[in-house]
Amino acid sequence: MAEKLADPADDLLSKVAARVRDGELTRQEAAQMGVLLLIAGHETTANMIALGTLALLQNPAQLALLRDSDDPKLVAGAAEELLRYLNITHSGRRRVALEDVEIAGQVIRAGEGIIMPNDIGNRDPDVFPDPDRLDVRRDARRHVAFGFGVHQCLGQPLARVELQVVYGTLYRRIPTLAAAVPIEEIPFKHDGQVYGVYELPVTW
Ligand code: HEM
Repeated sequence: MAEKLADPADDLLSKVAARVRDGELTRQEAAQMGVLLLIAGHETTANMIALGTLALLQNPAQLALLRDSDDPKLVAGAAEELLRYLNITHSGRRRVALEDVEIAGQVIRAGEGIIMPNDIGNRDPDVFPDPDRLDVRRDARRHVAFGFGVHQCLGQPLARVELQVVYGTLYRRIPTLAAAVPIEEIPFKHDGQVYGVYELPVTW
């Protein structure tokens, strides 16, 4: 942020820096926005690409459907299904009730905090039959991997484009892609805010 304040260019962070100069944002707020964009925008899609590839390598029939198809609808559906199935933002969305609400006989009082585990919602068998099965042809559009409501993911159109490009290209361009180590040797990000793998060694 300091760099963009001193030497602005034609980019997003320089636009945020301009708001600091106009007194609309503090330097700290602007820097936090930069960090949010970096984590929300990079960690998420990067992990979806690696983890999605691993999930497909584990499900070769599903991978074959993607690899052998040039139907953009199938690719778009596969991206939604992988978002549902993998649900990489696995820490739950936090909200505060503004008024009393009753859900399934349970009253949540105004002012009470709620943690909504969207990963569990994405495995709701009433919405997604046989939810633990990866099925790139299912209709997964009602998933909540991008959250829900006013704060749902700002970057979801960009994320969808990125994932559709990758899932629709990678396995066709490298049809012999395979994991280079057994799954037990792959280090998973159990400790991160965004779930994924630290590395995915592959061969072809
Ligand atoms: C696969 C990729 C992604 C996933 C799974 C994802 C998921 C999420 C989730 C679950 C939330 C919280 C929603 C809520 O509380 O209801 C969120 C918020 C957000 N995401 Fe993403 N995201 C992804 C990609 C991106 C990208 C590419 C960007 C930006 C370039 C981005 C920017 C944001 C921002 C700024 C917020 C905060 C919105 C707010 O609080 O109003 N995300 N994302």
